[in-house]
Amino acid sequence: VSREMEQLLQAYEWSSKLYHFLLNNTEHGKPAMDYLKSRGFSDKAIDTFQIGYAPARWDTLVQFLEKRSFDLSAMEKGGLLSSKQDGSGFVDRFRDRIIFPLHNRSGKVIAFAGRILGEGQPKYLNSPESRLFTKSRTLYNLHQAKTEIRKSRQIVLFEGYGDVISAWEAGVHNGVATMGTALTESHASIMRTLADEIIVCYDGDNAGQAAALKSIPILEAAGFQIKISLLSEGLDPDEFIRKYGAERFRLQVLDGAVSAVKFKLIYLKKNHILLEEDGKVAYIKDALEVIAPLPSPTEREIYLKELSAELQVSFDSLKQECNQFRQDMQK
Ligand code: CTP
Ligand code: MN
Ligand code: MN
Ligand code: MN
Ligand code: MN
Repeated sequence: VSREMEQLLQAYEWSSKLYHFLLNNTEHGKPAMDYLKSRGFSDKAIDTFQIGYAPARWDTLVQFLEKRSFDLSAMEKGGLLSSKQDGSGFVDRFRDRIIFPLHNRSGKVIAFAGRILGEGQPKYLNSPESRLFTKSRTLYNLHQAKTEIRKSRQIVLFEGYGDVISAWEAGVHNGVATMGTALTESHASIMRTLADEIIVCYDGDNAGQAAALKSIPILEAAGFQIKISLLSEGLDPDEFIRKYGAERFRLQVLDGAVSAVKFKLIYLKKNHILLEEDGKVAYIKDALEVIAPLPSPTEREIYLKELSAELQVSFDSLKQECNQFRQDMQK
């Protein structure tokens, strides 16, 4: 670790302590604390995740870092400060935002995500990538979840900070998040060193479900047993927990997570109107494209039987068509 990186790590650690202190103990932090409380975050969660608040001023951090003799231009490169337009100095990068510190696997703060209080753009402002922080390799909360993940050999993958935190409050301590960015092979292989099974628990909206679909080949390539959660009403896990409670989240969303094949079938089904004959036919074609390539005959049979019951089509004709698909695949 170079001296410059050590300085930046030090600055992130102290800044996160400062922001956490300002949130918990000052008048400046009151609106932010009210916002977090209105969303249902407990003091315990605020402490466990070291949530903080960056005040609505230009120089809170500039002053703090200057007093401690940090090289401000290095702090700008590291994402804590921004350059003034006219190049005459530096201002705080994070202003009037809730601060979620991001940690590396060993628990060192390497970046911040700053959420606006309420509505507005951008919703989250992040530290830029640096020699400390690479988005494609960072998983939120991995440093705290890794013990539980290793013990259970299971990991729960979320989209966002709020989801990880709410799940943690609901007793789910093996949760991490990719922070909105697409899941990468690096994320998958890092998780795979700790777990055999993964539950993908992305948001219930279209974007979240599309992202879950995209994650399947990446997680398969890493050798995971994959389960995928289905969230109703377009809710995200955080919203689901606030609305329906911890128990229903664990039973319905986590224990009720389905196989990758089942998820694909459910996902494809949404594109078709099954009350109409041609809708049914088109869905069967899509479904067979998922089922036919499965190497296990019993697995194919299970899904074909479900399809048969669901669509009121005979198992025999589905099986025949499935075999035709397999023959065509070999050509
Ligand atoms: N994200 C981001 N920048 C944005 C929007 C999203 O970095 N402008 C990342 C954040 O890590 C966020 C995740 O993508 O947690 C999921 O996005 P979204 O579902 O939109 O946000 P939520 O996590 O649900 O945020 P909140 O509950 O605070 O509204
Ligand atoms: Mn504290
Ligand atoms: Mn989302
Ligand atoms: Mn969300
Ligand atoms: Mn949310």
